Amino acid sequence: MTAATRTPTENTTPIASPGASSLSQTKERGRATEVRRALMNILDDLDVKNAKFEAVNAELRAEVAERTRSERILQQQSDDLARSNADLEQFAYVASHDLSEPLRAISGPITLLARRYEGQLDADADEYIGFAVDGCLRMQAIIDGLLAYSRVGRLEGTLESVDCNALLETVLGWLAPAIEASGANVRVGELPVILADKTQLGQVFLNLLSNAVKFVAPGTSPHIAVGAVQAGAAWRFEVTDNGIGIDPEYRKRIFGIFKRLHGREEYPGTGIGLSLVKKIVERHGGTVGVADAPLGGSLFWFTLAADGGTQS
Ligand SMILES: Nc1ncnc2c1ncn2[C@@H]1O[C@H](COP(=O)(O)OP(=O)(O)OP(=O)(O)O)[C@@H](O)[C@H]1O
Ligand SMILES: [Mg+2]
Repeated sequence: MTAATRTPTENTTPIASPGASSLSQTKERGRATEVRRALMNILDDLDVKNAKFEAVNAELRAEVAERTRSERILQQQSDDLARSNADLEQFAYVASHDLSEPLRAISGPITLLARRYEGQLDADADEYIGFAVDGCLRMQAIIDGLLAYSRVGRLEGTLESVDCNALLETVLGWLAPAIEASGANVRVGELPVILADKTQLGQVFLNLLSNAVKFVAPGTSPHIAVGAVQAGAAWRFEVTDNGIGIDPEYRKRIFGIFKRLHGREEYPGTGIGLSLVKKIVERHGGTVGVADAPLGGSLFWFTLAADGGTQS
């Protein structure tokens, strides 16, 4: 029953004849009317509360429907992203793999030509052959980078306990010629033992350190520090340099494949290194970024779950 259909005059109590009404009957009737009125007030109140409850309920239902719709869209976008990543990986693998063979067919004879006929033809011929050899080397570097990028793939079954100090020593060995040529000074702090894909983690250190050695102002000796601190269940690694630094505007962009901020003549490279770092770190359940180093230069950091990201 609603407030509109209820009235305080609805009275089921029989009305006594005026002559027979006593004071106590009048009081009784008065009390009954009061009780009925109070009851109706309560009912009206309940109606109002009920209407409010219905409105809140309808709002909640609408919110749940909207949330379900957003979740469906998000899931669809994440599926699309995973699919396009897999397509890119597949494309990178096929393209780089299939390009290797024709490249060998070009680079082999060109290298022979350079070796056998350098200085015997005219200066122009030497220069043209030099361009061709350089082009082949760059193409090989791009193919190698793309193959590495496309092979990062799934981690299952490849995790092992990795002593990062030992791994870093190996990586510094690979970089010894560049370190020596640039006069770089590399300080390494105490690094942890973590569960990771050792080959891939080696590629992360290799790319970050080779960048730190490479991107310095001409005439400057690189000063590089590598360290790690525990952050909850993860480790945060840092590679700090005294190099040319990176404008905050470009800090996100450099992790994209083939994204470079400098010409090849200024600083050589293919622009694959940091995209490979990002992919590997994310495969391990971590994140990567760059900030200003305290004394100028850049501070590249990445996090790695101590369990290799198997729990995430
Ligand atoms: N330590 C650094 N200091 C300053 N700039 C950097 C540093 N590391 C990377 N960059 C910038 O980010 C760009 C992308 O780096 P990335 O390692 O992907 O490519 P690369 O070193 O040019 O080529 P590759 O690593 O494939 O040989 C670089 O070209 C450079 O402009
Ligand atoms: Mg690089």
